[in-house]
Amino acid sequence: MNRTAVVPVIAVDGPGGSGKGTITTRLAAHLGWHFLDSGALYRLTALAALKSQVSLDDEAALGELAAGLDIRFELDGENVRALLDQQDVSDAIRLEDAGASASKIAALPAVRAALKGRQRRFRQMPGLVADGRDMGTVIFPDAQLKIFLTASAEIRAERRYKQLKDKGESVNLTRLFREIKARDLRDQSRSIAPLRPAEDAVIIDSSHMSIEEVFSKVVSLI
Ligand code: DC
Repeated sequence: MNRTAVVPVIAVDGPGGSGKGTITTRLAAHLGWHFLDSGALYRLTALAALKSQVSLDDEAALGELAAGLDIRFELDGENVRALLDQQDVSDAIRLEDAGASASKIAALPAVRAALKGRQRRFRQMPGLVADGRDMGTVIFPDAQLKIFLTASAEIRAERRYKQLKDKGESVNLTRLFREIKARDLRDQSRSIAPLRPAEDAVIIDSSHMSIEEVFSKVVSLI
């Protein structure tokens, strides 16, 4: 018997700003399950490339880099800290630039292949809540529950704007909106593992829902 096949997985996919991150961490805490932030793996790879001056176009070198990354996730209260080469890079990987670079390298097959096994190893008892773009379509196609969480680009830009403002960063809403649209387009139109709902996913549009409403809806589906 394939032992990993019995470990339950809830896959939560969708574009950035749909509320995925909040919902998945809350869900994992609620169920006492493991949590995978797959986007962080792409962000960490992008950051490692910047640090070691590997060009974002050099697919072979990026694939090797992704395969050999020294990374660790540590739970710090309700937050997950990301460590790259033993250094806390949790803030650095959240910057807009890291997200844009992550989206670029995420289109490269060698990078996706290198990160595949790493992601699947997070599937451990008693269960896994996985957050990403291709959790339900490629990484865990046999997930017991697949959610595709989305929201309009306008609403996602506004949410991100508020988040950044609350952090005291100077931001421009129009620019954020444009960046979000560009990232959506890149993530949806790449030839490998594009952002799209799995055929058996439940689609939730969070544009006009509070986080509490989305959370209750997801819990009711389990
Ligand atoms: O979810 P996030 O914003 O942290 O993801 C950063 C980028 O990584 C995103 O633009 C697309 C890419 N990504 C991906 O291609 N596949 C995943 N499973 C997760 C993220």
